[in-house]
Amino acid sequence: MNSKVRVIIFLLCVTGISVFLNGHVLGRYSKYFFQLQDTSPCACEKCLSEDDLNFFNKSVEPFLSANYILSEDTFNWWKRLQNEARNFSTYKTTVDRLFQMFPPGPDVKEPSPDLCRTCAVVGNSRNLKGSHYGPLIDVNDIIMRINFGHTKGFEADVGTRTTHQIMYPESAMDLDNNSTHLVLIPFKIKDLEWLLKAFPTGKSYGPVKSKIKANKDLVMLINPAFMRYVHEVWLEKKGKYPSTGFMAFVLALHICDEVHVFGFGADKYRNWSHYWEKLKDSNLKTGPHPGTDEYRIIQKVAEQQKIKFYTGW
Ligand code: C5P
Repeated sequence: MNSKVRVIIFLLCVTGISVFLNGHVLGRYSKYFFQLQDTSPCACEKCLSEDDLNFFNKSVEPFLSANYILSEDTFNWWKRLQNEARNFSTYKTTVDRLFQMFPPGPDVKEPSPDLCRTCAVVGNSRNLKGSHYGPLIDVNDIIMRINFGHTKGFEADVGTRTTHQIMYPESAMDLDNNSTHLVLIPFKIKDLEWLLKAFPTGKSYGPVKSKIKANKDLVMLINPAFMRYVHEVWLEKKGKYPSTGFMAFVLALHICDEVHVFGFGADKYRNWSHYWEKLKDSNLKTGPHPGTDEYRIIQKVAEQQKIKFYTGW
């Protein structure tokens, strides 16, 4: 073998070895290597973080707590949603009474580089029927359902677990699990009073459910300032106010590292029909909510690959 051939073989060997080292050794240990300088806020493959989304404002508290102070300006915005006639001082007294009875702070896991908080937000759309999404929903840590969204009889399509049931008095239902959080979205002072009465005495007002079966220690209250932020920042004031489902969607973006969205989308007649029933009101559309805008925003966030959106069948 002459020296020219030897040099070529030598060079080929060196190239081969460096390709191997790059591909295998560095590849295998890159996780360790990069972990040394890891600044990732969570342990998921990808984390939702503040600068990830245009409308994100993490400084808005999604939940009320005993020491939170709502501004009078926001109270005045909130009281117009369902024509509240009573004043700010009545609101404050009622909230104080609530926090004597329910946990003073929300039960929310803080972000941590060691945690991957995965969430499923499950709307009530009929597009869940026949979807077989059940197992995809059930693997998440947090599973939020909304209003009358339930699992019995629909497990294959909607899953079996619920960690958070998001409701208001007119859409309240008993929770079949003692570990599920009741999350109230209040639209008026009466809604807050309902919560005070629905637990111990069972006396309440009008056509709403007077008694609720739920764990008192897991009750959480959505902050009116969060509702306002969703309406003004996310929806740019479209519609009268955001739907419960859309508020749940934005809530998930705030308290989860990875968000999976199911059960959103009107039927072909543009009605918000449900997976468990045939629509009674064929003119329902999306009620007072800007349903089309809400859907487009979820779609857009999904296109940016910030969330996974399962659009059903
Ligand atoms: O009908 P309901 O308000 O109980 O549904 C919960 C949420 O699911 C709605 O607030 C809406 O955001 C979403 N939804 C939807 N498409 C449907 C039904 C409900 O996007 N067909």
